[in-house]
Amino acid sequence: MRPRSLLLVSLLALGSSPAPFFAPNPRTGQQADTIERKEYDLAPLKNAKLPIIWVLGGPGSGKGTQCDRIVQKYGFTHLSTGDLLRDEVKSGSKRGRQLTAIMERGELVPLEVVLDLLKEAMLQKVGTSKGFLIDGYPRELSQGKTFEEQISPCTLVLNFDASPETMTKRLLHRAQTSGRVDDNEETIKKRLQTFLTHSKPVVEHYADKCRTISAENDPDVIFNEVQQCLDKVVASA
Ligand code: AP5
Ligand code: MG
Repeated sequence: MRPRSLLLVSLLALGSSPAPFFAPNPRTGQQADTIERKEYDLAPLKNAKLPIIWVLGGPGSGKGTQCDRIVQKYGFTHLSTGDLLRDEVKSGSKRGRQLTAIMERGELVPLEVVLDLLKEAMLQKVGTSKGFLIDGYPRELSQGKTFEEQISPCTLVLNFDASPETMTKRLLHRAQTSGRVDDNEETIKKRLQTFLTHSKPVVEHYADKCRTISAENDPDVIFNEVQQCLDKVVASA
């Protein structure tokens, strides 16, 4: 069957489901594969009115390290979009197979895919959560706007700022043990480039809610600053 016919069959089969995302075929670069979409009832998330904290910063800036500490102190639900994507890859699903190539190239996975994974994870936890700590999202402005339109407004943005040299050094060190397919010199360069291309508009758009913290220091020093921001959120929640 020719690619056009395949697309048509996929569309008909999906019926009234959300529009499928047409991802480029990783081998041919052609827009032939569809990444499946699902429909979610987001009312529980909208009604919960929990604090939502987005955690931004380049690759190796220390988002995950600081999130672990935040969870320990504040008990928020930590959802890392990178971890959700890696879990999906490990699951061996069709959606996962389509993601591997994108992540190995250090590029951004399509918004729809990341947002669907986030919605699923948030819905699973909403009943018991004190608030969501969303690590690695939004990486481009459209991600932030769509999240707020479909799910809930974000309460606070934590932005960890480190130099490309610092981030590269940390990731190359982690590469010795991490086993991550994107922890290698070539992909680290591409991840940094992707970050530098897309992050500035996000920080500028959410300037009122955004707290930028230097991530060059020792993790304890950074966490002291994080606490100053989060104590205010908790007090007003
Ligand atoms: P993701 O998994 O989020 O990777 P990343 O953003 O590149 O960041 P890392 O997880 O590598 O670093 P980190 O900032 O968490 O630092 P960490 O604490 O681990 O995303 C992977 C890929 O998934 C993306 O490239 C993209 O393809 C895709 N993706 C993810 N989210 C997406 C989205 N929203 N949209 C589209 N695509 C998306 O620390 C790193 C190292 O440094 C560790 O060894 C740590 O011990 C050390 N360290 C941390 N802090 C310090 C410190 N203060 N001093 C010294 N060492 C430190
Ligand atoms: Mg991380």
